[in-house]
Amino acid sequence: MPARRREPLAREEPAELQVAATNGNIVTDSRGRKYIDFVMGWCVGNFGWRPAAIAKAIERFKGPDYVYPGYAYAPWTELARLLASLAPRPLTTCFRATGGSEAVDLALQAAMIHTGRRAFLSLEGSYHGNSLAGLSVGASDNRERIKNLLPHCGKIAPPLDAKALRRVEQRLKRRDVAAFVMEPISINLGVLIPEKDAIRRVRDLCRRYGTLFVADEVACGFGRTGRLFAFEHFDLDPDMLCVAKAMSGGLAPIGAVIATAPIATSMEENGGAFYSTYGWHPRSVAAAIATLRDLKANRPRLLASVAEMSEYFRIRLLQLEFNRPAAVRIQGLAIGIDVGDEDYADSIHDNCRRNGLLVSTEGSTVLLLPSLAIDKRTAARGLDILARSI
Ligand SMILES: Cc1ncc(COP(=O)(O)O)c(C=O)c1O
Repeated sequence: MPARRREPLAREEPAELQVAATNGNIVTDSRGRKYIDFVMGWCVGNFGWRPAAIAKAIERFKGPDYVYPGYAYAPWTELARLLASLAPRPLTTCFRATGGSEAVDLALQAAMIHTGRRAFLSLEGSYHGNSLAGLSVGASDNRERIKNLLPHCGKIAPPLDAKALRRVEQRLKRRDVAAFVMEPISINLGVLIPEKDAIRRVRDLCRRYGTLFVADEVACGFGRTGRLFAFEHFDLDPDMLCVAKAMSGGLAPIGAVIATAPIATSMEENGGAFYSTYGWHPRSVAAAIATLRDLKANRPRLLASVAEMSEYFRIRLLQLEFNRPAAVRIQGLAIGIDVGDEDYADSIHDNCRRNGLLVSTEGSTVLLLPSLAIDKRTAARGLDILARSI
């Protein structure tokens, strides 16, 4: 299980990829070389780069340069309503954030305020953002680098099997855990897909012992796994949902927590105001409203296309002959190919780059996160390059 965190872009990607332009499924570098993009900014460009509806909304934007968080701004309400309309019914109230790390941090604060508890539980090796709280619930080896992360953060080694479930119950029984936080399908753990019964059992245990269940869908949300949100695969009802990345189609930074009404009431009553100077900047809000309106209107078509392309990727990937036994994990267009060796995964990444394809890696897993709007011809060209690069 990969426990390392992605390095900053300049170190993860060889320095020569100087991005000059992004369009559709293609990244162009400063020398004019084109790459098929199977990373899409790591789940940011779910709808392709520069989706027309979103780009147009930004071009037409004539709103205020900035709105002070203490004032009202009608598009904030509109975006909050739009988000709540996409989330399941008990999730009614949005908190504004500038991105995924802030969203997760807010959710953890909200959990502590609402429950009066201080401990957290999460999956070992996971990634939940770069704030101190996010790193605290992330991989334990973060503590080797940063010596003063939050205490009382328990980790459950994945997968969620019977042993892991026993550990979850033992820990929750003490009734001091404010929240269990996880990506329902973990992109950061190389597309780890839990058993439905197991994740539902975790949710039930949370309910039984008064712990909030926080779904971090910063990466796996907005259609990536073939459902609008990954928790829908398991008929789950999270207490809080963290979103960011694809929410604005990559055109502007934004994030949000969507919480139940009782949690929102606790926030109001206990001063959890979550001031964020650039949280929901007007331009980001314009991009997010355009993105989510488009997503809402085209949801059935988009998800049908994800299902079709997912099957295409699955069939093609199972035909590939890797140097060593490889396991393909695929849900929608979240695709992890565990090639069993980190160096081999890195060499595939580098060969793909040389051959004109962008992929990502997490430890020994090669990650493919193509646009949800990818056409078969581009997918085939990308997969041909992958086949030449293994
Ligand atoms: C699951 C998850 N949570 C939180 C974050 C942090 O989001 P951001 O980089 O927007 O702060 C990430 C980023 O990769 C993520 O994958």
